Order: sequence, then C-alpha cells, then structure tokens
Amino acid sequence: MTTRAAAFTRRAFLVGLATLIGFGRRIRAQVEDYTRYQPLVRPAQVALEDLMTPARAFPFTADGMTLPSAAQPNQPVHFNGMVVRTSKGDNSADRFKAVCLKCPHEGCDVDFIADPGRIPSEVTDALGHLNEALYICPCHNSTFKMGDGSKLFGPAPRGLYRFKVTAVNETAVEIGAIEEDALLIA
Ligand code: FES
Repeated sequence: MTTRAAAFTRRAFLVGLATLIGFGRRIRAQVEDYTRYQPLVRPAQVALEDLMTPARAFPFTADGMTLPSAAQPNQPVHFNGMVVRTSKGDNSADRFKAVCLKCPHEGCDVDFIADPGRIPSEVTDALGHLNEALYICPCHNSTFKMGDGSKLFGPAPRGLYRFKVTAVNETAVEIGAIEEDALLIA
C-alpha cells in the first residue's frame, strides 16, 4: 500500500471511529432524556453552603404522590434522598445529582461510602480497586455510582431511582421531581 493510501485508510478509520463515538454519545443522551419524572408534592431544598465540596453527599427528604396506575394509587409517599455536587465550578443545576436511598432490590436504605477503605471485599473482589465515592446497600452489597446512581454490582435489578435538580439559586439547591418509576412501586 502506498503512503498516500495508508494515510487515507487511517483518516477514514479515525473519521469512522469519531462517528461511532458521537453516535454512542447521542444514544446515551437520548436514553437519559427518556427517563420520565413527576413533580414532588413540594420541592426539597438543600442549602448551597452544604454542597460546596464535590463528592460529599447531603441528605434530604421529599414527599411525592403515587401514580394513578400504581398498586396503591394517589397515596402520599415519603422518600429519603441524597444530593451531591459532582464537580467543582459554577452552581449550574447539572452539577448536582440526587438519588433515592431506597435500594431497588429489596428496599433497604443504601449508604453513601466516601472512604474506599469501607467498601466491602465482595465488591472490590468483583470490581477491583475503587477510588471513588459510591452508594452501597448494607443488605446485599448492591453498589451504585455516586453521580447518577447507576448500578455497578449486586442483585439490584437497576440503578437507584433518581431525583431531578430543578433549580439552584443563591442559597439553595432545589430538588423538584422524582423518576416516575419510583412512584409506581412505592
Ligand atoms: S436490598 Fe439492597 S442489595 Fe438487597
């Protein structure tokens, strides 16, 4: 193959790779966008001053209403949640992520684990050394990412139910909606 042909092949490969990566990102964004949320009965507020440090979780409580299609329709339901700042920078709403603490396996409340030394050996045996904050269920060690609550390990059938951070003002982070599925199974 001539040098020119080789350069062309390499360029075509890189363009193809970039297209694939872009396509994958678009699909991922779309999947995330398909998550449906329902407003809470009233938004939960967490003081911004408690959320200035990344990867330090802060608890809150929230009240919702079960969906008309739920087994127990239109009933008030109470959630315990945790919100974290995922990175340094400005206070835009997408820098904060909030999840419901109720484990989707059998409903135990998950713990926020900031110290990697507290991660159970069953989890590190399966996932290797982890140097990040995680949510871990004390009942059967289901393990979830700090940011979006997606599942990393364990018997839970899915990631943690998510809340939506709907606004950030000068003093507080407002959590105004919860993933619709959480209101079906509550
Ligand atoms: S209840 Fe959480 S892993 Fe079983």
